Amino acid sequence: MDIDDVNTITVLGAGSMGHGIAEVAALAGFDVRLRDIERAFVEDGYEQIEWSLDKLVEQGQLEPDDASTTLDRVSTHVDLEDAVDDAEVVIEAVPEKMAIKKDVYQDLEAVAPEDAVFATNTSSLSITELSSVTDRPERFCGMHFFNPPVRMDLVEVISGAETTEATAALISDLAVAMDKTPVRVRKDSPGFIVNRVLVPLMNEAAWLVHTDEATIAEVDSTAKYGLGLPMGAFELADQVGIDVGYHVLDYMHEALGDRYRPCPLLESKVEADALGQKTGEGFYDYEDGEGAQVP
Ligand code: 3HC
Repeated sequence: MDIDDVNTITVLGAGSMGHGIAEVAALAGFDVRLRDIERAFVEDGYEQIEWSLDKLVEQGQLEPDDASTTLDRVSTHVDLEDAVDDAEVVIEAVPEKMAIKKDVYQDLEAVAPEDAVFATNTSSLSITELSSVTDRPERFCGMHFFNPPVRMDLVEVISGAETTEATAALISDLAVAMDKTPVRVRKDSPGFIVNRVLVPLMNEAAWLVHTDEATIAEVDSTAKYGLGLPMGAFELADQVGIDVGYHVLDYMHEALGDRYRPCPLLESKVEADALGQKTGEGFYDYEDGEGAQVP
């Protein structure tokens, strides 16, 4: 299969990454089937796409007519078979847990078209291990987007042990078709490239606060005004989802050793379900839309 054969893309998981990936796929002209396990989740994802497209119109980056055509390309699904029956590519963006993803792939393998290519938006997990539960490890590839997908240019393309060159090339071409810049990751190692750099930064920021060496405001200010990053480490953790960063770290800790031990401050936020923007509170409070620091 090559990129000209791809018309329909199914995105599994309508959370912060899933709906964003569905949006960029629809903006690129693909028919998109957005699927989650509950109607409320998938409707929420659809509304987020609507919100984002409206923002793009407001910012003058998209014509109102193009926003509504884009939205028309997205259908919402709960039934898995229904969501994948005419897909050439399935992009999976379900929670960052090996066991959850493997369950999804087992169910998917049973209903997906035989020649469909599977791409996982995992942030860190082994592509080889995930692909091993399917009958198509050669047509299985990592396709890692960044949050928010509609604004972030990079996509990591990661081959597993059995991914063919044709599959990796197709996924790279798909990223280009979505107006992204693909970077081929040579090694299927935990965290790939970006998260090996980024997640320790978030963790170290959390340790500084946990050990009372700095405040959240101090750490975020230095990142923005000293390091020139677009957001502070805590602001970014809130945007990405504190649980996402925590699960990536936990996996890297298990696979690579103690230097990636997650800070208890991150763990306590996950336990309290204060996960950042998506739950209304993380390191900052978003209930009033302001993003004020949590006392
Ligand atoms: N769609 C449309 N508009 C959006 C949006 C979206 N998804 N998300 C934010 N916006 C809007 C905001 O609401 C705001 O609108 P407003 O001005 O009306 O309030 C506006 O965009 C902000 O845009 P600006 O032009 O003022 O801001 P910037 O140009 O500075 O860009 C940014 C925003 C691109 C998000 C920038 O802050 C940035 O690059 N942040 C870092 C993001 C990052 O590093 N992401 C990677 C995370 S790691 C990851 O995802 C990997 C995972 O595996 C952990």
